[in-house]
Amino acid sequence: MALPPGPRTPGAYNIVRFARRPLQTLRAWRARYGDVFRITFPVLGNGVYVADPEAIGELFTGDQSDLLAGEANSFMEPVLGANSVLVLDGAKHLRQRRLLLPPFQGARVAAFREVIREVAEREISRWRPGATVVLRRRMRALTFEVICRAVFGVTEPARVERLRERLIAVIDSNPLFMYSPLARTNLGPLSPGGLFARRLRAADAALHEEIARRRAEPDLEQRADVLSLLLRARDEDGRGMTDAELRDELFTLLGAGHETTATGLAFAFELLLRNPSALERLRTELARGDDAYLDAVVKETLRVRPVIDAAERTLTRPRVVAGWELPAGVKVYPGIALVHMREDIYPRALEFRPERFLDEGAEAYTWLPFGGGIRRCIGAALAQAEMAEVLRVVVPRIEMTPLRASAEPVVLRGITLAPRHGVRVRVEPVEPERAGSRSRDALAA
Ligand code: HEM
Repeated sequence: MALPPGPRTPGAYNIVRFARRPLQTLRAWRARYGDVFRITFPVLGNGVYVADPEAIGELFTGDQSDLLAGEANSFMEPVLGANSVLVLDGAKHLRQRRLLLPPFQGARVAAFREVIREVAEREISRWRPGATVVLRRRMRALTFEVICRAVFGVTEPARVERLRERLIAVIDSNPLFMYSPLARTNLGPLSPGGLFARRLRAADAALHEEIARRRAEPDLEQRADVLSLLLRARDEDGRGMTDAELRDELFTLLGAGHETTATGLAFAFELLLRNPSALERLRTELARGDDAYLDAVVKETLRVRPVIDAAERTLTRPRVVAGWELPAGVKVYPGIALVHMREDIYPRALEFRPERFLDEGAEAYTWLPFGGGIRRCIGAALAQAEMAEVLRVVVPRIEMTPLRASAEPVVLRGITLAPRHGVRVRVEPVEPERAGSRSRDALAA
């Protein structure tokens, strides 16, 4: 068994190079070594990137018992909890996934569109004309609120704020607390580990309080938020979810769902601002009431700026991947960004051209921002609805001027690809004659 060719540089060098310029680095590796190449990263060890859609299709379908994804995510367990769908594999993963999926299916998500628009309207009503807005930051506040309302079912402002304060304190803690048991060691209330434990306890208490409150709600049977649906969900043996499972899945949905979507939105604005003809066309189509271009903008954003560069699986048995017999223990990375940058699938692949998604849908396993198979993102429909509705509210009303002369470099932030400076813009209301009468009231005077 031999691993495919790849750079011989040390893991530490590879990760630094990748973190600083992830998209250019992936392109350079593929140009040099082809569609399947080996790479070593610190901690992760040997991995193999796959840029071939057919081989990725084979990885995402059929028997998955030799491909673990939960194990690769296990570093998140100290925060997300042992029941999190992200860290489980096998039968336990499938049980959680089956319980979680129904509230995130298309028809259910459609009902959240109005909530999303309301949250977006409220957000832009706070933007003063001429103010500087860091879009990734504001979009994070917005997507947090959407999760609170649509997923947790919490609308009361004081409770939303309490959840924000406590959950964000944990999520924004130094990632070392996740990776290192040593960092988490509780050496008393003033030690870093002690402080982290306290933050985690406060977040857990807030989540458990919401779960208990909802269980006692007289209208639980009628409610449409995800937590209420999860409380009513039963597995094939008729068992519901325990409070511990619910706590872990709520944290997981927040952790997986708010920063990713906010980053996707920040990229969407950045790309529209750097491509004025696409922005103009989006405004025209929205004014005509046609959503096809809006959906294409969302798809093209996630293609050219995928928030997650690759899925990740660990082989538990030797397996032939794209013609290479790979040994057990190796990580396999279905290369989301690599496929999205293929010129043979997406001509002029580095350009933002939403119209490429207008006429035909993408071929199988060529549009992969949400991964695939039994680990495909549970929130894919919600994320796309969120991106579309926020653009629908903001684009016709707000004129944005980027404060940087050149496009935002893409860098690695945690496990996501993000705009390095967060997309700083100056905001003004759109001139009324360009956007219809409603724009005049969009920004507070
Ligand atoms: C633009 C926004 C988002 C992107 C780009 C994204 C991307 C991804 C990707 C690439 C995966 C891994 C798929 C694989 O391994 O094959 C994933 C998994 C997951 N995502 Fe998302 N995601 C987004 C938003 C959301 C939202 C809004 C939620 C929920 C509220 C969510 C919940 C999850 C969960 C629970 C998983 C784990 C699924 C499993 O392991 O079975 N994501 N996401």
